[in-house]
Amino acid sequence: MADGAASRSDVILDVSGLKTVFRTRGGEVHAVNDVSFDLRPGELLGVVGESGSGKSVTMMSLLGLLPQPPAEIRAGTVMFGGQDLLKTPDRDLRHIRGARIGFVFQDPMTSLNPVFTVGYQLREPLRKHMGLSNKAAQDRAFELLELVGIPDARRRLSDYPHQFSGGMRQRVMIAIALACDPQILIADEPTTALDVTIQAQILDLMAELRERLKMAVIWITHDLGVIAGIADRVLVMYGGQVVEQAPVHELFTAPKHPYTQALLTTIPHIRGARADKLTVIEGQPPILSAAPAACSFAARCPVAFGRCKQENPPRFPVAPDHDAACFLLTEEPAHA
Ligand SMILES: Nc1ncnc2c1ncn2[C@@H]1O[C@H](COP(=O)(O)OP(=O)(O)OP(=O)(O)O)[C@@H](O)[C@H]1O
Ligand SMILES: [Mg+2]
Repeated sequence: MADGAASRSDVILDVSGLKTVFRTRGGEVHAVNDVSFDLRPGELLGVVGESGSGKSVTMMSLLGLLPQPPAEIRAGTVMFGGQDLLKTPDRDLRHIRGARIGFVFQDPMTSLNPVFTVGYQLREPLRKHMGLSNKAAQDRAFELLELVGIPDARRRLSDYPHQFSGGMRQRVMIAIALACDPQILIADEPTTALDVTIQAQILDLMAELRERLKMAVIWITHDLGVIAGIADRVLVMYGGQVVEQAPVHELFTAPKHPYTQALLTTIPHIRGARADKLTVIEGQPPILSAAPAACSFAARCPVAFGRCKQENPPRFPVAPDHDAACFLLTEEPAHA
């Protein structure tokens, strides 16, 4: 998946120039600043970056999941299946979210409804979006729970979310996200709250399901070790921007952005250990009270020079599918 440049017809999701701002009492928060990326059929796109870099807000913006206000999507297009999701009416968007783009967020307890059984929550999208009868939805719900490895699945359909362990709840969330055979699964730190063993099991499960269902996945995580193991291509976010994208092997062997280089030094050396929140890079993340007028990493960058503090660098191409927003690379912008 990672080799060669894709033609546009190979792209199933095309995000261009996305800008999301929150209006708060303390002023504006420019959470997503001109983010562009695409997703190709069947690939796993990893998204990394320290806390507050805009990973979740980017995904929630394109799924139409941010309450507006306080959020405001100021610019951008999100092309999916020939339409711009940012201009798609709510009703149609709900259908797309339920059926064609699945998503799993970090905390399954806030995503699952505590007052309905797991079986009900699995059957709902099947009835609503795929028009299945009660009986067919029940059979499919059973299959889905089995697919994600929940033992005694038939009986567990009538259990409530609190009767499942954290890892099992996360599996239920994945089952719901997969219910209608989506073309895309967006997973936002789906394993962060889980212990390392369960995390490994869920990652194995995802790898297997992706192979079997041939869907494209966007996987957001703090953990570069996880990305190294599962991604085809990686986006690195910083200060609400994509500062580098590269095929996974290239990102680890030839990172171009000083922020990516710094991130790579934060990976724990013990295999299987879990990365902590990536806050060990010296200095503070940028303040997002205005759109960036200079490189947002300049204040922490060991190699910053004059221009970095005066202009915001565009993404310069480095190699096929590899670009980085750094003035040390002086080529034409990839995403002007
Ligand atoms: N409802 C909100 N109101 C105001 N600011 C917000 C809101 N939601 C998010 N933000 C801000 O938007 C920025 C991006 O947040 P986002 O949640 O996308 O970061 P993230 O990269 O997902 O971080 P993490 O790794 O901690 O999940 C942050 O500065 C955050 O404080
Ligand atoms: Mg997040």
